[in-house]
Amino acid sequence: MKSFITGGAGFIGSHVADRLLASGFDVVIYDNFSTGKERFLENALSSSHCTLVWGDTRDVSHLTSAMKGADIIFHFAANADVRLGTQHPRKDLEQNTIATFNVLEAMRTHDIQKIVFSSTGSIYGEPDVFPTPENAPFPIQTSLYGASKSACEGMIAAYCEGFNVQAYIFRFVSILGERYSHGHVFDFYKKLQANPHKLEVLGSGHQKKSYLYVQDCIDAMLLALKKSKNKVNIYNLGTNKYCEVNQSIQWICKHLNVSPKLMYTGGERGWIGDSPFIFLDTRAIESLGWTPKRSIQEGVIRTVSYLQATPWLMESRS
Ligand SMILES: NC(=O)c1ccc[n+]([C@@H]2O[C@H](COP(=O)([O-])OP(=O)(O)OC[C@H]3O[C@@H](n4cnc5c(N)ncnc54)[C@H](O)[C@@H]3O)[C@@H](O)[C@H]2O)c1
Repeated sequence: MKSFITGGAGFIGSHVADRLLASGFDVVIYDNFSTGKERFLENALSSSHCTLVWGDTRDVSHLTSAMKGADIIFHFAANADVRLGTQHPRKDLEQNTIATFNVLEAMRTHDIQKIVFSSTGSIYGEPDVFPTPENAPFPIQTSLYGASKSACEGMIAAYCEGFNVQAYIFRFVSILGERYSHGHVFDFYKKLQANPHKLEVLGSGHQKKSYLYVQDCIDAMLLALKKSKNKVNIYNLGTNKYCEVNQSIQWICKHLNVSPKLMYTGGERGWIGDSPFIFLDTRAIESLGWTPKRSIQEGVIRTVSYLQATPWLMESRS
């Protein structure tokens, strides 16, 4: 099997590349390195079964020629940052929605029939049902990121119907772990490095979030690929627990042995589109025999330990 991973140099995509190579796949990594890192690929590129292509999913003709010969597409390239959506509204549309259309069109050109897509719990906006199931009432979008990913899901499902594609759509909560390079743990660690005596927290700190360790996330995707055979397979991926942002801050500070004064910016949400409560119903993926091996706290601590051991990453994102 030849797999083609868009965003394969990113946090999650590079781990997926490692796991696919270890399972005997040939892997093509396609990335524009906007946030991806070549150093995440040291292991993958040491394999003769891995090829790296520098390219941009917005360039449909380059993407189409690079995809030739692939059997399955893992489409992970995206603007993965929810927070700054309103500062550049076109970015989510171009990097996420139009780029996904390009991926689907490139697949159609080569008659490639399987796609794995990294969607998000953000597509549920601010739901009324907790834990939120995959078939929650049609969600009202609260972020441009969620809206762009929801549009991607719709297009992928339509290509399944129209062009005989089979899709695996995974709605992730926030993912944690090694190579993590954006999100709340990264932000807090960066701020505490600059000043361990003071920590600005966006919102009230009472936002409730669910997190999942990256290898547990990949275990779930690979299991669903093996066991789930519908035309459109949609799974929430998260743990059956959540924590308050304040709890996560306590774990991080204890691990770093710092006691900063916490300065809250206030309000229920940290930014426009920040959902005050994300907690997904994971019974569907669990019914396939999956269960996460790491708790949220372990995921947070492993992430901080990784960031401590990887100063080059902090410098590259400063
Ligand atoms: N990390 C999370 O908590 C989380 C949660 C929900 C969904 N997701 C989704 O999972 C996927 C991977 O996220 P991540 O955390 O690894 O992010 P990331 O930023 O580390 O990885 C994204 C990768 O895509 C590449 N990329 C971006 N735009 C591109 C383009 N136009 N052409 C080619 N490459 C491009 C980047 O260089 C990077 O390597 C994204 O689709 C994201 O929306 C992530």
